[in-house]
Amino acid sequence: MGKMEIPMQFETACIHAGQTPDPTTGAVMTPIYQTATYVQDGVGRHRGYEYGRTGNPTRTALEASLAALESGQFGLAYASGMAAIDSVLHLVAPGEHVLAGNDVYGGTYRLFERVLRPYGLDFSYVDTTDLEQVISALRPNTRMLWIESPSNPLLRVTDIPAMVRIAHNHSKSSLVVVDNTFATPYLQRPLALGADLVVHSTTKYLGGHSDIIGGAIVGKDTSVHEQLAYLQNAVGAIPGPMDCFLTLRGIKTLAVRMDRHAENAAKVADYLAAHPKVNQVYYPFHASHPQVELARQQMRSGGGMVSFTLKGGAAESIRVAESTRLFTLAESLGGVESLIEVPAAMTHASTADSPLAVSPDLVRLSVGIENAGDLLEDLSQALASAQKH
Ligand SMILES: Cc1ncc(COP(=O)(O)O)c(C=O)c1O
Repeated sequence: MGKMEIPMQFETACIHAGQTPDPTTGAVMTPIYQTATYVQDGVGRHRGYEYGRTGNPTRTALEASLAALESGQFGLAYASGMAAIDSVLHLVAPGEHVLAGNDVYGGTYRLFERVLRPYGLDFSYVDTTDLEQVISALRPNTRMLWIESPSNPLLRVTDIPAMVRIAHNHSKSSLVVVDNTFATPYLQRPLALGADLVVHSTTKYLGGHSDIIGGAIVGKDTSVHEQLAYLQNAVGAIPGPMDCFLTLRGIKTLAVRMDRHAENAAKVADYLAAHPKVNQVYYPFHASHPQVELARQQMRSGGGMVSFTLKGGAAESIRVAESTRLFTLAESLGGVESLIEVPAAMTHASTADSPLAVSPDLVRLSVGIENAGDLLEDLSQALASAQKH
């Protein structure tokens, strides 16, 4: 144990935080405790674990790792990003209001509007890059401010410390929640910037290999931890031990993967911005991004996500998305492999006909860690072949 208590930089924490050799066997990698229940030495006398929904040592290691990476006091792991988001929303009572960014993941919007609104929670949406809009949208019953930064799919960057000041001035009990899925804690740590809670779809960069579905909540307040841990057990949307193991394995390479994702994505953004068929590129560290200065202050790099529109409109965007050979046409993001999609028809279809609807000509890329030249070559041939149709 002593060895693990030395202060760790982020890259070291990715590999070691929460993960000491297994005390019973000495296994260096955290074992997959594939068990539903645990023996009790006497009635009510257990060794820290009673039942697999309540706790599992592989999950405990993942939760400690997540807490360390986000500079939090606690981490909780879930069966999916949506399960984590749903749990956070249990902190809001019927009759209370949640103010959310108007560029959030389509599934988040669907959960808020179609599942939680009928239970009496109130939601409204603003452009969180405009502080005046945020201030004037607050209501006396606003309990939570929900931010994605960078956002999905427009890569908008929200000033997290400013949101925290606005929300906490409004009410001491209001919670600022940041979905940090796109940035990851390697690029941006919202809790250190004053946010109350961070959520993740660990399906994405934390897992990193498109082989698990998972979610996480990280926070710092003990009473919020108690409420969320109670809910985690009571509701039961927990990940299995195998998925916890795979997420831990993915996390070990998070820092090196993110560096390569960002290096490749910056090259892709530059390439697209100079292409005559491209209308607009969305990438937080690109000179054309309206919040490039803020992005550079708040994030270590621009990350791996790039969106763009084409001068030829939606039909051409669809042709490009169907013409790539290395970029796989698929939903999701954050894996080592490059993906391409059209959000309006795929990941964000549930925002259709809503104020959050995404332009049908927007193409979103999850830039992987392949050779950058190969990726540019693939985009070049896809843009050229789309032209010929
Ligand atoms: C920003 C963001 N948050 C949350 C989610 C939901 O996560 P999951 O698919 O793991 O439930 C996604 C999924 O795409 C996402 O992109």
